Amino acid sequence: MIPDRPFPFIASRKELRNVALHVLEGAVPDDWYGYVFLNTAAGTVNSDGLPYKRTLPNGQANQEYASPLINGDGYVIRFDFNHGGQVVVNTSLLCPPCYHADVATSPLCNPADNRFWRYAFRSFGLARISPLLGTRNQLNTAFLPFRLQDNEWRMLATFDAGRPFEIDPATLECITPIGENTFWHSGLPPFMRQPFEMVLTTAHPVYDPETREVFSVNFTKTTKALMQATTIFAWNLETLDELEEELERKVEGWLNRDIEIDLVEEVEEALHKIRKAIEKRPVVSRWLHKLQNWWYRFVGHLYSSRNKVYLVRWTGQKRPEAWEVTDQQGRSIEIRHNMHQLGFSKDYLVLGDTNFKFSFDIMLNNPFPHNPKIDAFFRKLLSGVMADYSTVYLIDRRTLKPGAKKVKAKRVRIPSETVHFSVNYDNPEGKVTIHTAHNCSACPAEWLRPYDTEKISGKPVKEELYGLIAVGQMDIGKIGKCVIDAEKGVFLEEESRFLHIEEDPTGAHTWAVGLYTYRDMLSPEKNVEDIRYVYWQSYGLSQERLTSFIYKLYDSPERQRLLPVEDILEKTKQGAPFVLFCVDTGQMKAVDAYCFDEGTYMWSLQFVPRREPTPGLHPQQDGYILCTVLPYREGRYTSETWIFDAAKLAQGPIARLGHPELLFGFTIHSVWVPEANEVTNPPYCLDIKSDYLPMLKGIKRRKHRQAITQLFEEYVFPHEYGKRKR
Ligand SMILES: [Fe+2]
Repeated sequence: MIPDRPFPFIASRKELRNVALHVLEGAVPDDWYGYVFLNTAAGTVNSDGLPYKRTLPNGQANQEYASPLINGDGYVIRFDFNHGGQVVVNTSLLCPPCYHADVATSPLCNPADNRFWRYAFRSFGLARISPLLGTRNQLNTAFLPFRLQDNEWRMLATFDAGRPFEIDPATLECITPIGENTFWHSGLPPFMRQPFEMVLTTAHPVYDPETREVFSVNFTKTTKALMQATTIFAWNLETLDELEEELERKVEGWLNRDIEIDLVEEVEEALHKIRKAIEKRPVVSRWLHKLQNWWYRFVGHLYSSRNKVYLVRWTGQKRPEAWEVTDQQGRSIEIRHNMHQLGFSKDYLVLGDTNFKFSFDIMLNNPFPHNPKIDAFFRKLLSGVMADYSTVYLIDRRTLKPGAKKVKAKRVRIPSETVHFSVNYDNPEGKVTIHTAHNCSACPAEWLRPYDTEKISGKPVKEELYGLIAVGQMDIGKIGKCVIDAEKGVFLEEESRFLHIEEDPTGAHTWAVGLYTYRDMLSPEKNVEDIRYVYWQSYGLSQERLTSFIYKLYDSPERQRLLPVEDILEKTKQGAPFVLFCVDTGQMKAVDAYCFDEGTYMWSLQFVPRREPTPGLHPQQDGYILCTVLPYREGRYTSETWIFDAAKLAQGPIARLGHPELLFGFTIHSVWVPEANEVTNPPYCLDIKSDYLPMLKGIKRRKHRQAITQLFEEYVFPHEYGKRKR
């Protein structure tokens, strides 16, 4: 174990232009080509990248300290392989309109103009929210390349809680959001009109190059947690300090009690009193009246009737098409967690209710995330375990009728928790094959907090890990190949396979499976009929990352699990490294692997093909794997890019690259494309002012409406989007 490490997650927000990476070891291949786009979260407007510092320059405590690494602005890194033995990098911060509002309202970024400070955004769990402006669309999660009728290679940047936004593949500037504001349904109740609506969608929309359609989703769900959350929205920033003190006093009394219904009621009562106190303030009283009506109508009910899922089809319109998705009986669908992943085959769309809690409870349950006492209590009260299964909804693409309002889906349960999946394009005899990543008894939407303790040692979690996703796993992960009879809507157990590896001669293991890649994943040129070789990342096991909180959450005898909890603890004590490995899905077997050194992190991975085929090599192994790696070297962590031969992982990286100015802390999804030229202005490009004016008009209170409109006029609308006419 490496003692007293420095902070590993250091990210820059600096815009780099045509920077050639230094070759630290080995040689860059000269037979590859194209570009890799990699999305990352690189801190907030206030933080100057990562890490989030404990104190602000003025000595005050930093509210963002220890917030999740994935709550940050999207920072795209584009690797260009068209320069012989060099890799050339361009980077850019992704700045949609809400970014400019974030900068304008921040007392740190805009100290000269305090008129709008009351609207400042704050980091609330996984989301960044301004009570009156709305939710930041951070665009930090993934990309989707696509081509429409003009044949230009275009690119979307995506996020689970905001509209996709087209970016220019060459300049990396933001061009246009997809679909007008008024097209998307807000994830919040209709009376909560905010200009930056929280749009619950998917960070993984899909594009079918055969039909040139982009599919996405938009869902709404009304939960008790959402109702609790709405009280927080009504808390005016000016009152937050007083409320925090009062709540902290109460939490002290609640902390040692068991979580049971009378405690929940007592907490609700306290929140009610706090609301009453605010109610005297005319600024929020009208809102509160409505809030209370809503609150009492729904309290006690886990779900309301307002659960809706819309399938969105976009082929280049300003207003995409949408169908409400229902079950076979025509009833609305309830989403339990979220819809992080979509997939498709030739005839079917696959919508996932995936086990990633990017949902209200985790985003909004705590108004004071920087206060450890209150934060710990709210997490204990409201955190739910992920289900130990997933649900997918299959829609027959042939039943999508233009102009119809609804479409029916078949609901199929996959017997293990799933975050990501990919689907074979081929669906012979109506059988759909889904390649699945199973993060068993793990909470990838939780993060390590300052008051967390390590389960095994009982020591406080190390400061350098604050904000990291809680990847301490409570069961071994699995890789699945799930076969579904799409006509009948039945999971075919006999034909489905699950792979878990505790130890393997190759060094592969499935302790905390993470991201994966394969050739032509998300290709805008061709679909993959049969996904044969998949490259996987596993995070491994570390007692530093397994917290008592996660342990308690998943230490349940009722949970489906492969290994007993005692074994998990023993294995975690022993530890396991990050590993990159290849699975042959024909045999469902690991065929090649590379283990990273202890203390080294490996985040993203991306397949890059060779320009010319190698005789005798399967095309899905004929290329390279690019990885983002944080190695610990000479007393510090660095950001490096490693290149592996995809057919020879075990031999180690063929090149290690780096640059002092290319610093990434937490990188997420990536994609490879053969071309990345500057695009023309698309016909669906929205005029940002026209798009937001209806949202501004919807703000109920005149005082806020006027001030926020002024804010937009001065700080948002002057920023140009779209491509200037050439
Ligand atoms: Fe994802």
